[in-house]
Amino acid sequence: MPAILESDLLWPDEAAAQATAEQLAAALLPTPDAVIELHGPLGAGKTTFTRLLLRALGITGRIKSPSYAVMESYELPGGGVASHFDFYRFGDPREWEDAGFRDVFAAPGLKVCEWPEKAAGQLPPPDLQFFIELLPDDSRRVRAVGAAKLVEALS
Ligand SMILES: Nc1ncnc2c1ncn2[C@@H]1O[C@H](COP(=O)(O)OP(=O)(O)O)[C@@H](O)[C@H]1O
Ligand SMILES: [Mg+2]
Repeated sequence: MPAILESDLLWPDEAAAQATAEQLAAALLPTPDAVIELHGPLGAGKTTFTRLLLRALGITGRIKSPSYAVMESYELPGGGVASHFDFYRFGDPREWEDAGFRDVFAAPGLKVCEWPEKAAGQLPPPDLQFFIELLPDDSRRVRAVGAAKLVEALS
């Protein structure tokens, strides 16, 4: 079993989240292939972090929140695909088949998941989890747990 590491990060502002996103992108490239879970309450910054990560991976077009469609997928400029999920409204396990999510998770590529707990029965084991806590001063305390090669890239 690959080594699992934990690291505590602090994001005082979005610039700090962007620095983490850039470190993670560098560790994922050249061919991003990982399942990343973003845990945290509404407003924690899950969508914002995903946007920063997708930008750091070179996506230049519009990045929509997948809250309605559940999944938004992007071609990566260096090849491969990144899929952004928001499972907040995901309820019916049949949707996993019908919407093609099984195929997406079976194929290589980056999968970033907001509200993974709402699809816990379907998701494969994650390579990296972020647990984001919103502090009263608007900063974010973040625990990163996952594969050593990814967690070690974060500071
Ligand atoms: N790291 C951050 N530092 C400061 N503000 C942030 C940060 N991340 C997100 N925000 C702000 O918090 C709000 C909610 O962020 P969002 O990414 O939509 O949260 P979530 O997807 O977890 O519900 C947005 O207005 C965004 O500008
Ligand atoms: Mg969101």
